[in-house]
Amino acid sequence: MKTLTIIKPDDWHLHLREGLVLKNIIHFTSELFGRAIVMPNTKNPITSIDSAISYKKSIVEALSESSKFEPLMTMYLTDDTDKRELITGFKNNVFFAAKLYPANATTNSSHGVKKIENLYKIFESMEDSGMPLLIHGEVTDPEVDIFDREEVFIDRELSPIVERFPKLKLVLEHITTSYAVDFVQENNIGATITPHHLHINRNAMFFGGLNSDFYCLPVAKREKNRLALRSAATSGKEFFFLGSDSAPHLRKWKAFCGCAGIFNSPVAIESYLTVFEEENALDNFEKFASLNGPNFYNVPPNKGKLKLVSKPNKVAEFIDVVEGENIVGQIKPFHAGETLKWQVENISN
Ligand code: NCD
Ligand code: ZN
Repeated sequence: MKTLTIIKPDDWHLHLREGLVLKNIIHFTSELFGRAIVMPNTKNPITSIDSAISYKKSIVEALSESSKFEPLMTMYLTDDTDKRELITGFKNNVFFAAKLYPANATTNSSHGVKKIENLYKIFESMEDSGMPLLIHGEVTDPEVDIFDREEVFIDRELSPIVERFPKLKLVLEHITTSYAVDFVQENNIGATITPHHLHINRNAMFFGGLNSDFYCLPVAKREKNRLALRSAATSGKEFFFLGSDSAPHLRKWKAFCGCAGIFNSPVAIESYLTVFEEENALDNFEKFASLNGPNFYNVPPNKGKLKLVSKPNKVAEFIDVVEGENIVGQIKPFHAGETLKWQVENISN
């Protein structure tokens, strides 16, 4: 039986939602991860210091009393973002970073930015103050094929930003293409990689009928891209770090409306680990999960440890959302019904 002990990881891209869903799912992350960057695309997006403080309070209240988990809050950039509010929030440790969603690129992004150039003044201040900019890198131009939206975004929007703001701390979130892998390394920026983009290619959405279980944004691409992502993630290189993009949607919505987002927090570590083992790269897992992110964001790695053991691990078909004694909804996790080969054996703080 193989074992692996690593420094406690962080999740640098996570959707925790609100209310009952938040209360039901937070433990999947807070038990295993030291910190997580919490995405601001809640129903009413987090666009002010006050809303970030009250969202963080609701997250902390949903944690168990002994939990040491630290949610890192982000501000959702809009066409009307107030520069002073953003930088003040960053300097006072309310915001850890700012998130840029092109308008209507993904779930709850209707308040996103319509013309990125209009934010250049804001980027200038972020560059000066060292505030990280996290980017959902897809164009929303309906004329651009959905499978090309990341590459076109890199050419049309990201390249000019990188050129104009060379010191801006940039993360291209949930990368899905070999084009992005190359761009990130050539331009010395950061990138998160999700477990699902390491496991599935675009065929998964069409297997056995149209299958929204595997629909997320950016959408999974061709196999050659998946292979490039696997080699980037498992390389141990400093640019690439863990960001699960776990994005729960209640079954009823996911099944009927096909909302974008894959809920992987119940299996994220085990799912990544499967990939690292298949790529003979278990030695690099700690870099990807626990060291490259802190190094990029200039924060110390966590103190705790996670001990993992290679033992069969059957994944539930559904995770219940409960209110008191009643099951009020269900969410399908990534790898539902599969048996993964790794389990968490021990967690220390
Ligand atoms: C995310 C969500 O549901 O909030 N969905 C997704 O497909 N990844 C939003 C996002 O990160 O794009
Ligand atoms: Zn996301």
